[in-house]
Amino acid sequence: MAKSVLVLGLQWGDEGKGKFVDLLTEQASAVVRFQGGHNAGHTLIVGEEKTVLHLIPSGILRDNVICVIGNGVVLSAEALTDEIAMLKERGISVTDRIRISGACPLILPLHSALDQAREKAAGANAIGTTGRGIGPAYQDKVARRALRVQDLYNLDRFNEKLEALYGFHEANLSRYNVDTLDLDAMKERAKSYADLLLPFVDDVPGILDTYRRDGKRILFEGAQGTLLDVDHGTYPYVTSSNTVAGSACSGSGVGPNAIEYVLGIVKAYTTRVGEGPFPTELFDESGQILGERGHEFGATTGRERRCGWFDAVAVRRACLLNGVTGMCLTKLDVMDTLESIDICVAYELDGKRLDHMPIGADDLARCVPVYETMPGWQSKTEGETDWNKLPPNAVAYVQRLEELVGYPAHIVSTGPERSENIFKVNPFA
Ligand code: GDP
Ligand code: IMO
Ligand code: MG
Repeated sequence: MAKSVLVLGLQWGDEGKGKFVDLLTEQASAVVRFQGGHNAGHTLIVGEEKTVLHLIPSGILRDNVICVIGNGVVLSAEALTDEIAMLKERGISVTDRIRISGACPLILPLHSALDQAREKAAGANAIGTTGRGIGPAYQDKVARRALRVQDLYNLDRFNEKLEALYGFHEANLSRYNVDTLDLDAMKERAKSYADLLLPFVDDVPGILDTYRRDGKRILFEGAQGTLLDVDHGTYPYVTSSNTVAGSACSGSGVGPNAIEYVLGIVKAYTTRVGEGPFPTELFDESGQILGERGHEFGATTGRERRCGWFDAVAVRRACLLNGVTGMCLTKLDVMDTLESIDICVAYELDGKRLDHMPIGADDLARCVPVYETMPGWQSKTEGETDWNKLPPNAVAYVQRLEELVGYPAHIVSTGPERSENIFKVNPFA
């Protein structure tokens, strides 16, 4: 029986992680975010109600679950304030259920200003970031000049470090003509950051260790997706954190043996928001159908998501990078009306067949997908909960994906609601 499950994305994000974190936390005591920040947009649908979470772990809708923000997360106090207010308005108790690591680097207004200004200045070379300041905040972290939650315990010292940080970024900010940042106003704001954040600060590695010793179940919630990983993804068109399974350990303070099951969430097709290579991207009617039926608009920025066929080469690589135990194949229902379906089984690069993803964006951008075509099922899988009732062509499609990727689909998702799933294996069972 697995006591700890890690949920993460196997593509370029938005695979449906939020739905499954929400669903699986019915069986857990704690949910832990360990990387990224409020660039994430995790959608939870319960009945008629839709909740989009960016920063607070997706276990918050379950009363008995504590929501932990680990040291690997870059934290915006403004985003946290907004999210707490949104949840309170819905009558969800939050304040006694959040735990934050004092080692989380803070995302300050200067980080989002820099992110947006840099993107604008990059023109055609822009990455298409969410503009939330994620990249600049991680840059400050690894450069060892970041302000962290823990620094708020001593505001005088905090303000000294803040001055140094503003000093460092001054030249850059004025280069981009950003003049909206007022250091004195930021110093004032530090007090409100302290009031907001310090009551939540706790010893995250200690809590997780105690939970483990007590036999309580823990769920780790990945953000973004494996192909956006800063090392293994389509660099430089990636986010600024490690999104792979290993990051759950360094980003929360547990050892590798604390993760017993890795659930890789993967769409039955592919989407991507922002710039960067996407070999199976569609520009035809099939792509349009996937976008429309799948409501493929970003949960954070509202941007239209690019849509394409399932890329088995990319997903195979993602599975091995994460040591996936089982996959959860989402949005099968979105493909219900398609007459035929292509699957990318290899790439062609410079006249040679490739069966693995090349490193980085440049070579991948030149890869031409090699497709295998399967007939669609053109009947309803929407809301189906019984594997034996799926149309034969849908079963054949799922089985072919498993074969090509080399990992089993333990769950198939057939709709956005909590109940719309086929469970072959329960990760916590
Ligand atoms: P995340 O970032 O991985 O949590 O995914 P997002 O929330 O950004 O995007 C996934 C979208 O697909 C959300 O709107 C979900 O409600 C929806 N969704 C998840 N699973 C399914 C499914 O099996 N079928 C359909 N039709 N929608 C789904
Ligand atoms: P969830 O958790 C999809 C993408 C951005 C951009 C790149 C870098 O909802 O799956 P950043 O702001 O992180 O510096 O942007 O990463 N991106 C996501 N795409 N889902 C996400 O999160 C994403 N978070 C970042 O669109 O291409
Ligand atoms: Mg999302």
